[in-house]
Amino acid sequence: MTSITFIHSETNLDSFAPRLLDWFETNGRHDLPWQQHQTDTPNPYIVWLSEIMLQQTQVTTVLPYFARFMDSFPSVQDLAAAEWDMVAEHWAGLGYYARARNLHKGAKQLVAVIDETGDFPQTLAGWEAISGVGPSTAGAIMAMGLHRYGVICDGNVKRVLTRWAAIDGDITKSATTKELWALAERLTPRENSGLFAQAMMDMGATLCTRSKPSCLLCPLQNDCLAHAQGREIDYPVKAKKQPKPSKFSHALLIKDTNGKILWLQRPDNGIWGGLWSLPLQFVEKIEGKASGKATDKKQVANDDKPLAVPSDVRRNEKVYEAEFTTAEQIIHEWLAKNELIAESVSHSLLEDAPIKHSLTHFHWYLTPQSVTLDAKQTAEISKALQVADININWLSADDARATLGLPRAMVKILE
Ligand code: ADE
Ligand code: SF4
Repeated sequence: MTSITFIHSETNLDSFAPRLLDWFETNGRHDLPWQQHQTDTPNPYIVWLSEIMLQQTQVTTVLPYFARFMDSFPSVQDLAAAEWDMVAEHWAGLGYYARARNLHKGAKQLVAVIDETGDFPQTLAGWEAISGVGPSTAGAIMAMGLHRYGVICDGNVKRVLTRWAAIDGDITKSATTKELWALAERLTPRENSGLFAQAMMDMGATLCTRSKPSCLLCPLQNDCLAHAQGREIDYPVKAKKQPKPSKFSHALLIKDTNGKILWLQRPDNGIWGGLWSLPLQFVEKIEGKASGKATDKKQVANDDKPLAVPSDVRRNEKVYEAEFTTAEQIIHEWLAKNELIAESVSHSLLEDAPIKHSLTHFHWYLTPQSVTLDAKQTAEISKALQVADININWLSADDARATLGLPRAMVKILE
């Protein structure tokens, strides 16, 4: 191991934790429902569950979801024993469904550990072995969920530390990650690492915010190197992400004569794994990378505004077979054979796709399209799907919303 030297003096490094903890005592949040720092018998299940929920989602969004999870699954055994559909339904709307799948899988792994050893994992490595738990989450659980020693270095911590120590390295690079972990370890007190972790999270979330940090209220203000130069906003340094590609699909509202809609359960791997969705008909994909046209680049880079589809790219239509699930392929072929999707991929429908949904790896433009089947056709398509072992459901929009865990994009379509 190469030893890392820190830019700050030992005095500054040593006083970091006391200053932060002082601030936390009077100005931190002490009423978040998952906090365990005021009890002598911390519950690791609560910390694990909340940390997974908080990984990419803000506190205010998580609060009601957390309450519902605790209500329905008060223990890890309850969560492990629950049907996936129940878990998905509780998670629906929180996004990043891989987290929900990992949560359910992780609950089963935890129950296996408890059955074998009589308790939750007690080591960092033990927690890192659980699906969905990375080094920072494992550190948080050790520190806050078990009151043992644990270090966190998540996005909030990285922002605070790159500013305090004016660390110029790109935080997506492993050399910078190592430097930040080393600094986080140096700063974390052996005693009270849980309190320290909670205080760092609060600092990052309430004072040292991404834009407009409240430096005047900050306990680190005196020796914060970014603040001294008025360069808070320049940190953390992060390589610009490639613009995301855009995908265009039709969401098929296949209705029977009673107005019930055909729903498919998506395969476990891939987008919305395990959730119920309308059959999607993939139409085309536009690479996010600059296609030589300055306008594309500008439009794609702005996450908030709907994209105008460059017309020459749009005309260059391609259907990627691999983008269909087995079920969608069966439906697609059946509809085509029965001539039920006349002009189905007409470009005019795509021009202002009513639903824009941004996922981790791409922007998705969804255009609803209705197809009504007679009784014979309904029976035929149902049979074709069931023969292929695909889970289907015919449900009205209201019933689907009430009983299936639908991804948010599906709810948007129904609206
Ligand atoms: N973000 C991640 N974990 C958190 C926690 N325990 N409290 C507040 N915000 C968080
Ligand atoms: Fe963040 Fe400002 Fe505090 Fe520096 S002084 S750590 S930039 S809030």
